[in-house]
Amino acid sequence: MAAPTAGIPEELVIVLDFGAQYNQLIARRIRECHVYCEILPSDTTTEQILARNPKGIVFSGGPSSVYDEGAPLCDPALFAAGIPILGICYGMHLMGKLLGGDVKGGQHREYGKTEIGVLDDGDLFQGLNPRLIAWMSHGDRVEKVPPGFVETARSAGVVAAMSDRKRRLFAVQFHPEVVHTPWGIDVFRNFLYQQCGCRELWTTESVVAQAVRGIRDQVDGGNVVCALSGGVDSAVTAALVHRAVGEQLTCIFMDHGLLRKGESDQVVKTFGDHFRINLVHAQVQDRFLSRLADVTDPEQKRKIIGEEYAAVLEEEARKLGDVQFLAQGTLYPDVIESGTRQAARIKTHHNVGGLPQTLKLQLVEPARYLFKDEVRAVGEELGLPDEIVWRHPFPGPGLAIRILGEVTPEGLDTLREADAIIIEEIRAAGLYRRLFQCFGVLAPVKSVGVMGDQRTYGSTVILRAVTSEDAMTADFADLPYDVLSRISTRIINEVPGVNRVAYDISSKPPATIEWE
Ligand code: XMP
Repeated sequence: MAAPTAGIPEELVIVLDFGAQYNQLIARRIRECHVYCEILPSDTTTEQILARNPKGIVFSGGPSSVYDEGAPLCDPALFAAGIPILGICYGMHLMGKLLGGDVKGGQHREYGKTEIGVLDDGDLFQGLNPRLIAWMSHGDRVEKVPPGFVETARSAGVVAAMSDRKRRLFAVQFHPEVVHTPWGIDVFRNFLYQQCGCRELWTTESVVAQAVRGIRDQVDGGNVVCALSGGVDSAVTAALVHRAVGEQLTCIFMDHGLLRKGESDQVVKTFGDHFRINLVHAQVQDRFLSRLADVTDPEQKRKIIGEEYAAVLEEEARKLGDVQFLAQGTLYPDVIESGTRQAARIKTHHNVGGLPQTLKLQLVEPARYLFKDEVRAVGEELGLPDEIVWRHPFPGPGLAIRILGEVTPEGLDTLREADAIIIEEIRAAGLYRRLFQCFGVLAPVKSVGVMGDQRTYGSTVILRAVTSEDAMTADFADLPYDVLSRISTRIINEVPGVNRVAYDISSKPPATIEWE
């Protein structure tokens, strides 16, 4: 399964993924209950599951009907393994069908908020109100519960939940993991603490302790190199590895000239001065900018930056000599997205972070099982500054893809200044943490303006500010007019050569977050 990695806690709950859009949410809710869980594909064998000795199993929902050809199934032997199981939506239909209940294929999906009435509050509904609003999204439904089960909740003539307490099998038709089912976390708590006997072992302190132990076991007396990007993932990875093996870690931080204002200084101050981590600060601005001269195609820019980045990292790593490990800030969503069954692979996504395989370094990925919010909590626990822990995502190719057209030193200076004003004003308005990202884009157009009595012919900065959960979809942020106005006035007054600021009011999809 997964590559050698930082310590995994002793109590595990497995989420079997039947294709649900919400499988990561299920895992996050379980982790919020301080119980460690992993998402495994639905065709994981019973043997593999039992080998992990899980305290409980959750069957996720999924887009299929249990009557579809090729619908994902599970091994009925799992039901007899004595492990508590919670089926959600599709997971419930599967349980119903395989255990002898009556499951009807639905012609019409029921979608949205539905009132449910609790019939039995002896297990999943303990401590909850008798009438609840739950969020449903299903086609199939259980008409008659399987032998041994009782119906524990009902909504508009449909079985909304069922339990077989003797075998510790439970199922719900609704989605307890989504925000529209606000009391859903209590369903998880009841399942995890009472039925599975889980303890609250997954805390930030325990995550750090386990990760440190895992890194020490893996690295032993070897040497580790870590590429710092200035972002939270690599920063937390480096800080964890440093706590585990101290001097055996060297970080490489590359200033390719495409960073935001003050970013380089902050990384050096935090990691070099504060943490006293061995830090190679590669000043390679010229190298990148000369290769980017005259290049306007965004894909070409990305390709050049990716190649150059890998080349510099390889050179620096070779200079260090005796290195066996590469620490990388892979997070759990990356692992899930690249297929839970695949062996660890270098994060090729978006071209930054990896070292060439010719170096034959073994990966150390202490954040491999963490969600972003957990990484941030670990960062705080390790004493990383707020500006790093809460920093908005920043693309690996940096400002190069936020300058439309050719990347020039002048363009970079302009954008850096404008971007710094945007961030400063957004922070001052107390909006920074509410936004997923906010930044400036330098448009490849000039337009006429007037300043004093003078006609100007200047550049345009586009302000982009979005809210998002995971960057897959995003909405443009509803920024107050006074904030917009301050940003615009300051950029035009303070950044030479800019005479116009526009606000991007498109959402993703159909637009994207970045402009390229
Ligand atoms: P788009 O523009 O596709 O961006 O909506 C989605 C998210 O990905 C980030 N992004 C990148 N991150 N290297 C990265 O590490 C990249 O090359 C890259 N390109 C886009 C973007 O900032 C947004 O958060």
